Amino acid sequence: MEKIEITLNVNGKPHHAMIYPNETLLDVLRDKLDLTGSKESCGEGVCGSCTIQMDGKPVRSCLTLALEAKESEIKTVESLANGDELSDLQQSFVDHGAVQCGFCTPGMLMSADALLKNNPKPDENTVRKALSGNICRCTGYAKIVEAVLHTAQPQGHCSDCRSKE
Ligand code: FES
Ligand code: FES
Repeated sequence: MEKIEITLNVNGKPHHAMIYPNETLLDVLRDKLDLTGSKESCGEGVCGSCTIQMDGKPVRSCLTLALEAKESEIKTVESLANGDELSDLQQSFVDHGAVQCGFCTPGMLMSADALLKNNPKPDENTVRKALSGNICRCTGYAKIVEAVLHTAQPQGHCSDCRSKE
C-alpha cells in the first residue's frame, strides 16, 4: 500500500502528513502530528477515550479514517487550554476531583465541550446522556457530571458546591 499526502485542519491550523489510506485519525493525530492528548483504550469504538470533535460533533477517532476527516475542522483536547491557562471546563474537572488516572479525561472533555457549545445550560440528565459514550473506570460519574454542571452554572448549582456553602 502506498502512502499519500494529506492535509488535516486540526485546532485551527493545517497539518500535513504522509499516511497510509487505512490509518485511523487517532493514529495520525498521535503518531504523525504529535497530538497525544487523545487516548487509545479499547481501539474499537466502545470506551470514548479517543473522542475528538469533527465540525463540532464528538467523534471516536479510533473508528474514523484520517482520510474521512480531511474536509472537516478537527478539534482535539489540546485546543481547550490557552497556553498554560486551563479552560473553565478543564479547571472544573480539577476542582471537582473528576480526574483520577486521567485516561478517560480527554474524551470526556471533548464530549462535554461539544455539549456546552450546543447547550450552554444543560440539566443533569442531558449531561449524563452526552457523556454516556464515555467510560470512566476510576471516578464513577458523579464528580464528572458535577464538573460539567458547574461549568454551565458556576453559581452553586452543582451539589458539590452547594454542600460547601
Ligand atoms: S479507543 Fe476509541 S472508543 Fe475506545
Ligand atoms: S479517571 Fe481513570 S478512567 Fe476516568
